Amino acid sequence: MVFNTQRGHYPQTRMRRLRAHAFSRALVSENQLTPSDLIYPVFVLEGTGQREAVPSMPGVERLSIDLLLTLARDAHALGIPALALFPVVGAEKKSLNAEEAYSADGLVQRAVQALKDAVPDLGVITDVALDPFTTHGQDGIIDDAGYVLNDTTVEVLVQQAASHAAAGADVVAPSDMMDGRIGAIRSTLESAGHHNTLIMSYAAKYASSYYGPFRDAVGSAGNIKGGNKYSYQMDVANSDEALHECALDLAEGADMIMVKPGMPYLDVVQRVKQELKSPTFAYQVSGEYAMHVAAFEQGWLSKEAVMLESLMAFKRAGCDGILTYFALDAAKALQ
Ligand code: PBG
Repeated sequence: MVFNTQRGHYPQTRMRRLRAHAFSRALVSENQLTPSDLIYPVFVLEGTGQREAVPSMPGVERLSIDLLLTLARDAHALGIPALALFPVVGAEKKSLNAEEAYSADGLVQRAVQALKDAVPDLGVITDVALDPFTTHGQDGIIDDAGYVLNDTTVEVLVQQAASHAAAGADVVAPSDMMDGRIGAIRSTLESAGHHNTLIMSYAAKYASSYYGPFRDAVGSAGNIKGGNKYSYQMDVANSDEALHECALDLAEGADMIMVKPGMPYLDVVQRVKQELKSPTFAYQVSGEYAMHVAAFEQGWLSKEAVMLESLMAFKRAGCDGILTYFALDAAKALQ
């Protein structure tokens, strides 16, 4: 090995100087990940003392409301600001027109009330979409040909969102991708006096194949009529369109916008944040979770380090917060 020790041949800028010590790395660190960045998606089912594993999402369980309260207390104690609630609805409650979605006494509505009673300071975010409640698994009301009818669906979504707000939801989160639903929901919430109920819009939601394990978790996987959601979710090839979607939803009254899925779409997150400068979230979806956990279980990747690295990547891209099934584990790791 020959060392060149002649003056002038040393690098003037050594990027490694700042990396040499923990203190200097900490001083120049550009992004932080804290439990307050995390939103925890949870699955709720009927009954008491009920707990069911989701095979394609190891570590994730469907819980009855009583058990969900324990999880909610844990999440709050760890500094997680909010839960996102997804119902697992029995076949007997599903119908063509998804009436159960806006039942004042529905599973979601009761879960919201119980959560707000038990852990009032924990934010509760509800999913506004009809797929848990339709026999055909589509997010809206369909015509005879199976096409999801936009305006008919919006009328039902509005009732669903209003019932969530009436139950005490802090945030309603439409994940259905119908046109005009944010504006319709906002004006209904306003006229019902729910001025401070927030809307987190799934604004740029792609027709992704990474949602498979979620559809297993809520039991809609087998019955999605037509087999896909291409007529309303976005084409994975597009990103200008994501800006258009997000801008429309903000103009219609969304308080927060979301990009979904997460890691494969961080380019979209970055564009949305840079161009719209609004509260921006991303969803590290079920398929992303499943891939990670599969590699952890094989011993191919180191769980804690990779989990935190994946979440930091969202922060670096510009996310204000991340919906992630790792929320509880990550918050523990960050204590
Ligand atoms: C449906 C909905 C989906 C997810 C959240 N809400 C799936 C879909 O669009 O079929 C996916 C979440 C995940 O994969 O973790 N309204």
